[in-house]
Amino acid sequence: MTAPIIRQLAALRAKHSDWIRAGERVAVVPTMGALHPGHLSLVEAAKAACDRVIVTIFVNPKQFNNPEDLANYPRTEHEDAIKLAPYGVDVIYVPDPDQIYPDGFASTVSVAGVADQMEGACRPGHFDGVATVVAKLFLQTGAHQAFFGEKDYQQLLVVRRMARDLDIPIEVVGCPTVREASGLAMSSRNMRLSAAAVAQAGALHPILTKLATQLAAGGDFTLLGKAAEAAILAAGFDKLEYLSLCCAEDLSALDSADRPARLFVAAWLEDVRLIDNVAV
Ligand code: PAF
Repeated sequence: MTAPIIRQLAALRAKHSDWIRAGERVAVVPTMGALHPGHLSLVEAAKAACDRVIVTIFVNPKQFNNPEDLANYPRTEHEDAIKLAPYGVDVIYVPDPDQIYPDGFASTVSVAGVADQMEGACRPGHFDGVATVVAKLFLQTGAHQAFFGEKDYQQLLVVRRMARDLDIPIEVVGCPTVREASGLAMSSRNMRLSAAAVAQAGALHPILTKLATQLAAGGDFTLLGKAAEAAILAAGFDKLEYLSLCCAEDLSALDSADRPARLFVAAWLEDVRLIDNVAV
């Protein structure tokens, strides 16, 4: 059976009150829909951790810096509800737009530091949109725990910082990236790639993991990064936006993996922007 879909905050709050009265713990899995096995792994983690699970589906216009990207974003609510059915989630919250951004909405949550580089630099306003909508979703759902994929590792850190800074009593849990057999990180954007491009995109992860191994052995990023950039372009990617080695905790740029670090990449293929990251 598919979970009930709730579109109004008042109805969500009524359910939430019943759960809290019964002493239950509530999880939220925020999504923009077009669910794939990566999202479903978050739902599984949420189910294992909490008594009640809310999956939110809201394509948040404020986090798209490119109107074409927003227009092309897949909207598959019916299929998403069917995919969620076996997981026994309690509510699918698909807020009507005015439940998130009522008339006259004029507030923005902006996170500095971990939001400034990489995605923050390449997509101006993106993290303001993410932090604003996620703050609202945290407050609206009143969840004890929220589950995010490490595929969007920078987003995970931004959201965690935001919740801490605003004293929102929620634990932000990061879950491992789910990958295709080729290593390609699962993403709703992969749906927009041709079969040939999906095969090409599979080259990205092995290039990253090879570089991560070299860096873990003490290699110099300035030198090795150049070779990896060339390999990414040689694999058929049209453009590389960044390949960065950063401290895993605060995302400051590194020349070598002299502390727990992560490698991050953003690259374009067939007009689709793909991102990925691996631990070093
Ligand atoms: O990762 C996403 O799908 C979105 O950025 C999120 C966290 C649901 C906020 O709109």
